[in-house]
Amino acid sequence: MNLLVTGGCGFIGTNFIRYLLNKSDFTGQIINVDQLTYAGNPENLADIEKKFPGRYAFVQADICDSDKMAEIFDDHDVDTVCHFAAESHVDRSIVSPDDFIKTNIIGTFNLLEISRNRKNRLARFHHISTDEVYGSLGKDGYFIESTPYQPSSPYSASKASSDHLVRAYHTTYNLPVTLSNCSNNYGPYQFPEKLIPLMILNALEEKPLPVYGDGKNIRDWLYVDDHCSAIWKIIQHGKNGETYNVGGDCELENIKLVEMICDAIDSKIGKNPDKWRNGESRKGLIKFVKDRPGHDQRYAIDATKIKTELGWTPKTPVETGIAATINWYMENENWVNRVKSGAYREWMQRQYQSD
Ligand code: NAD
Ligand code: DAU
Repeated sequence: MNLLVTGGCGFIGTNFIRYLLNKSDFTGQIINVDQLTYAGNPENLADIEKKFPGRYAFVQADICDSDKMAEIFDDHDVDTVCHFAAESHVDRSIVSPDDFIKTNIIGTFNLLEISRNRKNRLARFHHISTDEVYGSLGKDGYFIESTPYQPSSPYSASKASSDHLVRAYHTTYNLPVTLSNCSNNYGPYQFPEKLIPLMILNALEEKPLPVYGDGKNIRDWLYVDDHCSAIWKIIQHGKNGETYNVGGDCELENIKLVEMICDAIDSKIGKNPDKWRNGESRKGLIKFVKDRPGHDQRYAIDATKIKTELGWTPKTPVETGIAATINWYMENENWVNRVKSGAYREWMQRQYQSD
């Protein structure tokens, strides 16, 4: 397999490349194409390059550059695509949607066109999408694969658009595609603009923990390794043209999740009873802030299809996953400091300048 991974220097792409190359049943080669936006960090895979010489190649490129991308497909004789590259942060899409439209829609379109032109060589185009395309749930119900699309943010609308294009290329050109729509991931290497790493780093630094609105919005959390195993199952055994929902069976209100992180850090490195309100826990650092515009209330995935058809299940209990994630951020101070010295700082200043 000559597997083109797009966005492999981001959070999930990095974990996927590490997962796959360390698996004994994967004998192929990986070509990682990443533009290295603020969210991409080649340092994530520096050891992989050394450990798997000849089986891993990195090319810095923009998926919107169709000539360059076609050249990469040819140079590496690409036969399988796993497409992660995207602008991924909802709050940024609300502030400036342009790059979301370019990368998520035009970039995906480019990859589909190149794949169509090489259809005889292509075994599989797997598109990574999100549960956010389905919009918001009320108190009851779950997203299934046939739930109508009703995206709320520029991010989710751009991902919805890319999903429609991927399906259209299957229906019209018989391109061998699969899609997965996944819930919120967490784990190592996640850029700390997202809820879990932001809360971990702020709690460790004794900074305020900004919870949007009343903190009662619900997300369905999935440890990133479990997402990687789902993707690999779909690439190997998924049926052409099919979509698979992937979730963690782990619905939590944001406030409960943040409290869980505080408790985990308190018990790992001790409380500071003199310092925080309530005098007992880092929970005293929680600060309710202005809500996100268009904030979806609840996401919950019904993953019956991938479980029954492909035999996949999420394996990591949230307490285990959160503890592993806290450990990773504590043990990788250099990574954290480098990431935080760049675009992160500007973003945080912009977000909280008025608070
Ligand atoms: P991320 O923001 O951490 O990484 C995105 C990567 O894409 C970065 O390395 C970036 O440099 C690269 N990239 C951006 N624009 C590019 C371009 N024009 N050309 C080439 N590379 C480009 O994102 P993530 O959290 O790893 O998400 C990966 C994929 O999974 C996305 O498609 C996202 O929509 C989807 N997804 C994410 C989650 C989640 O919880 N993080 C859940 C479901 C689906
Ligand atoms: O559901 C899958 C999606 O999950 C992916 O498609 C996106 O790429 C990914 O970013 C993620 O989107 P969310 O908006 O759900 O993730 P985020 O970490 O930004 O926020 C999670 C929840 O926490 C959400 O309800 C907003 C809230 N939140 C977030 C931040 C950053 C806060 O309360 N405070 C914060 O500071």
